[in-house]
Amino acid sequence: MIVCVCHRVSDRDIARHVRAGMGFDDIQFELGVATQCGRCEGCARDVVAQCSATNPVAAIQLASAITESRAWNSSQVSAQA
Ligand code: FES
Repeated sequence: MIVCVCHRVSDRDIARHVRAGMGFDDIQFELGVATQCGRCEGCARDVVAQCSATNPVAAIQLASAITESRAWNSSQVSAQA
């Protein structure tokens, strides 16, 4: 199914990128989805969320990226202060 008509991006294209560990912003940058008229953004985000839920590897990679971010690790910030 085509999700983004403007850039001819399918749900399979999005799913393949999610399996590679990419989040919505990365996929948007890579494929151009939701960067023109924007009507596909909700559907594209739904596809990413669905694929992330059914693809634990991608979800784990995303979770570790979040926990490794300094913004989310307040204990290191307070320990350095
Ligand atoms: S349908 Fe995706 S940007 Fe227009």
